[in-house]
Amino acid sequence: MMSVKELYRGIYELDIGDRKVLATRNIMPGLSVYGERLIVDDGIEYRQWDPSRSKLGAMVLKNFEIPIEPDSAVLYLGAASGTTVSHVSDILTDGLVYAVEFSPRTMRDLIQLCDQRPNIIPILADANKPQSYAHIVEKADVIFQDVAQPNQAEIAAINSKYFLEEHGHLMLSIKSRSIDTAASPKKIFKEEVRKLESDFGIESEVLQRKELDPFHEDHLGLVARMFVDED
Ligand SMILES: C[S@@+](CC[C@H](N)C(=O)[O-])C[C@H]1O[C@@H](n2cnc3c(N)ncnc32)[C@H](O)[C@@H]1O
Repeated sequence: MMSVKELYRGIYELDIGDRKVLATRNIMPGLSVYGERLIVDDGIEYRQWDPSRSKLGAMVLKNFEIPIEPDSAVLYLGAASGTTVSHVSDILTDGLVYAVEFSPRTMRDLIQLCDQRPNIIPILADANKPQSYAHIVEKADVIFQDVAQPNQAEIAAINSKYFLEEHGHLMLSIKSRSIDTAASPKKIFKEEVRKLESDFGIESEVLQRKELDPFHEDHLGLVARMFVDED
């Protein structure tokens, strides 16, 4: 006998007898995206969500408050082939995810996913150049960023300025080794948070920050509210 607990809107914990697994409700029943298990309970199909393959999944299990609602507009920077984006797409039953990825090869896989899932808008672009996709993206309630670049804080700040709704949320995964392989991750995280709060002319309030181990080593997860001017 299975039990289902809704952790956040559209995000579930399934007790499947021997263990508990994270899942979203599959908006495309019968279709698996990256080989994940499909689990049916009471006529509803869920897709198992592997937190070791998803920074967002890890943030859920590390008890972050997840600001994504079913009708949110989400700008996702660093979509790759869409492993995590597919779960965001499940959550957004009445919303939209703009999925930005700059690798053309990876984008081919993402486009196949978008053929199945109309609430994902694929954008082949460099997240350093928000002006290049400003004609496609409407305002975003949430920016989720997982780009593993040395200037992660700057990318987050410039995209927030362009696209985030006033009082919108930024969810950021910071990979310390993309910034400096020698320095201590804790020192790097402190410096990146400082940069985000004071270097880019945008007021922000970091609501939560936690390392994402054991799911992702040397990664910091962060949720911030960004106070963007409305002009
Ligand atoms: C760690 S992977 C993302 C994994 C993905 N978020 C997931 O959970 O399924 C980082 C991705 O960011 C992309 N990326 C890195 N820098 C970028 C940039 N400046 N603009 C757009 N995409 C970028 C890389 O090509 C790579 O696919």
